[in-house]
Amino acid sequence: MITASEHASRIRGAPPIAGPGGLPRLLPGSFAGRPLGLAGHLARHGELPAAEGQDARACATGWLAEIERAGLTGRGGAAFPTARKLAAVAAAAGRPVVVVNGTEGEPASAKDKVLMATEPHLVIDGAVLAACITGATEVIIVAGPAVTGIVEEAIAERRALRRDPVPVRVVPAADRFVAGEASAVVNWLANGRPVPTPVPPRLAQHGLHGRPTLVQNAETLAHVALIVRHGAAWFRTAGTPAEPGSMLVTVIGAVRAPGVREVGIGTPVSTVLDAAGGPAQRLRALLIGGYFGTWVPWPEAADLPFSAAGLAPLRAVPAAGLVAALPAAACGLAETARVARYLADESAGQCGPCVFGLDAIATELGRVAAGRPASLALLRRWLSQVDGRGACRHPDGAVRFIRSGLELFGPELDLHARGWCSGTTDDPVLPVPRRLTR
Ligand SMILES: Cc1cc2nc3c(=O)[nH]c(=O)nc-3n(C[C@H](O)[C@H](O)[C@H](O)COP(=O)(O)O)c2cc1C
Ligand code: SF4
Repeated sequence: MITASEHASRIRGAPPIAGPGGLPRLLPGSFAGRPLGLAGHLARHGELPAAEGQDARACATGWLAEIERAGLTGRGGAAFPTARKLAAVAAAAGRPVVVVNGTEGEPASAKDKVLMATEPHLVIDGAVLAACITGATEVIIVAGPAVTGIVEEAIAERRALRRDPVPVRVVPAADRFVAGEASAVVNWLANGRPVPTPVPPRLAQHGLHGRPTLVQNAETLAHVALIVRHGAAWFRTAGTPAEPGSMLVTVIGAVRAPGVREVGIGTPVSTVLDAAGGPAQRLRALLIGGYFGTWVPWPEAADLPFSAAGLAPLRAVPAAGLVAALPAAACGLAETARVARYLADESAGQCGPCVFGLDAIATELGRVAAGRPASLALLRRWLSQVDGRGACRHPDGAVRFIRSGLELFGPELDLHARGWCSGTTDDPVLPVPRRLTR
C-alpha cells in the first residue's frame, strides 16, 4: 500500500514547471507548431508515478483524493467537480470506459484542438489515469478530425513501448455544435448519430453500450495528469481558492494576436486580452464563454476576474473559455442574430421547443437586426417559452446568449427599427460554419 509520504515524494520527483503559478502548465511556452513527442513530453513533465501490481488500487485511491483536494472542475463548460464524476464511475457496477471529449463543436473555440495538437501525451496520460481510478478497461479519445492523426501517432508511440495498462484508441469527432454534449458523444460512438439522448441518461451508470462511462473534457484530463504528478497544493498555486488552477482560453476578434492562451482562473479580463496582444481597435463588448455565453460591456468588464465568481456581476461564466472581442465598428445585434441562426440550425431536431422555438426566434431576431418589421414582445415571449424546455442545454444556452445580446445592444434596437445601424463594417467577428449561414 502506498503511503501518503511515498505519494508526496513521488510528486516531488516530478520536475518543477517554470513561471508564476507554474504557468504555462498545459501548453509549452514556445509552441513550435509541432506536437510534443513522448520524449519531449517526459522531459517537460517527468514520468507519471507508477501504479503497478498490488499498489494499483491504493495509488488510484490516492490520486482520486489528490484530485478532490485540488478542486479541479471540468473545463468542458459546466465546471462540474471532476473527482465526483470519477468517484461515481468507479462506484458503478460493470466494466467502465473512459471517453475523452475533444469534440469542441463550438466553432469559435480551439483550445482542445490546440492542446491535443501540442501535448497529446498529456491528455492521454490523464485519460489513462482516469481509467486506473475508475477501473475502466478502455480509453476512447474523440478528437477533432484535424488532430486525429496527431493523437493516433501519439497512441502508436506509446503502444510500441507498452506504456499504457489499457487499450487507447481515437475516433474523429462529428462536426456539429451539439455533437460535444456528453450523451451525443456516447451516441456518436455507439450508433453514429451525434445527438443528445432525449431523456438525459446517467452516463456514469449506463453509458456507452450500457457500460459505466466517464465523459471528460480533454483539457480536464490534461490537468488530471499534472495534479497526479505535482499534487493538489501545486495545482492551487494558480487560480482562486474557490476556483483553483489554470484554464485554456480561446481569444478571438479584435485583438492583436488571437489564439489559445493559458491563464490562472481569476486573472483580470484585461490581462486575458493582453495575453492575446491586447485590443487591436476600440472595443464595444466581449462575448464570454462561447455561443452559450454572455455579451458583456467593454471597458466595464476589464477589471473583473475571469472566474465564475468574478464575472457574476455581469451574469457571465468562463464556461469553456472563449473570449471574443467585438470592435466598436461591428454591430452586436447582427453578430447575435447570425449566431442565433446558426444555433437554431444546429438543433438536433428532437425536442419541439428547441426545433421550432429557436428557428422562430432566430428568424425574428434576423428581422430586428436587418431593420425589418419585427415584434420584440413576441421575441421575448418565445425566449421565455423555449428556456429550459429541451432534453439538453442547447436551447437554454442559445436563449442565454440571445437575451444578453438584446440587453447589451438594446439601445441599438430603436436605431435598427428606423433603418439605422451604428456598425460600420460587415466583417463578421464570430465564426459560423459557412455551410450553415443563411
Ligand atoms: C450543446 C452542448 C455542446 C457541448 N459541447 C462540448 C464539447 O464540444 N466539448 C466538451 O468537452 N464538452 C461539451 N459539452 C459539455 C459536455 O456535455 C460535458 O459536460 C463535458 O464533456 C464533461 O466534461 P468536463 O466535466 O471535463 O467538463 C457540451 C454541452 C452541450 C449542452
Ligand atoms: S434540446 Fe435541442 S439539441 Fe437538445 S436534444 Fe432536444 S432538439 Fe436536440
